Amino acid sequence: MIITSNAHDFRASNIAFVPTMGALHQGHASLIQQARQWSNQVVVSIFVNPLQFENKSDLEKYPRTPEKDAQIAERAGASVLWLPNPKDIYPGEVATVEPGAIGNIFEGQSRSSHFQGVLTVVKRLFDLVQPQWAIFGEKDFQQLFLIKEMVREFQIPISIMPGKTIRDSDGLAISSRNVRLSAKDRESALVISQALISAHEKETLSLMQEALEKVLSSEPLFRPDYACIIDEDTFELAIEATPNKRALIAGWVNGLRLIDNMPMKISAR
Ligand code: PAF
Repeated sequence: MIITSNAHDFRASNIAFVPTMGALHQGHASLIQQARQWSNQVVVSIFVNPLQFENKSDLEKYPRTPEKDAQIAERAGASVLWLPNPKDIYPGEVATVEPGAIGNIFEGQSRSSHFQGVLTVVKRLFDLVQPQWAIFGEKDFQQLFLIKEMVREFQIPISIMPGKTIRDSDGLAISSRNVRLSAKDRESALVISQALISAHEKETLSLMQEALEKVLSSEPLFRPDYACIIDEDTFELAIEATPNKRALIAGWVNGLRLIDNMPMKISAR
């Protein structure tokens, strides 16, 4: 595996790109392995993007584990680990990318400029890497949706591929934040995947919604932000006739914010 800060060291025509902010875990390894199915030129970037953090202390506290990251990336099949310099990503003024109305709901509601920061950096990373494919985890479903929208709007010739959410054996979606959960917090956090699974077993929208609320409210230590079912294709709230429904949940356990989502069954109609 090549480790470089210079994008000119690896430009090629068939790159599959896995952008990350480091602190790699099994979820990232799975994205790299999926990317490997399309190309043997898998470029993984690590860039902790200041634009997508609400405050300076979150940015400073963001875990940085470069040696472990290099091992995980290489074992998962990356051919290049790209560690760009901040001045290459942001050489003075760069055009910011506006996410539009969907950037201000759900995750965007509590983190006002977050998605503008995400789209701006992803656009810069795409400009520099010029991949053929780029993969983003479904766990950040709103991010994935907005990146697909950006690619469509700017007609960027890159295929955006969704990466499956990887779960621990107890059902908790893998995230770099999970290490901050105590054993007791983790027990409480399991209510999120339990609510999603319960909703997934239901046949109608109202039963799905009821299941989300019922299971989440059974855990007093979980403080919900939102729990709803959206139309995957528009990100609007689903109606009964919506074919591709997805349940989204966000909330806090002991002050730690967690998000997760799951596709719902296509109802037999
Ligand atoms: O999902 C992430 O890790 C980040 O939001 C991304 C896409 C790498 C942009 O900084």
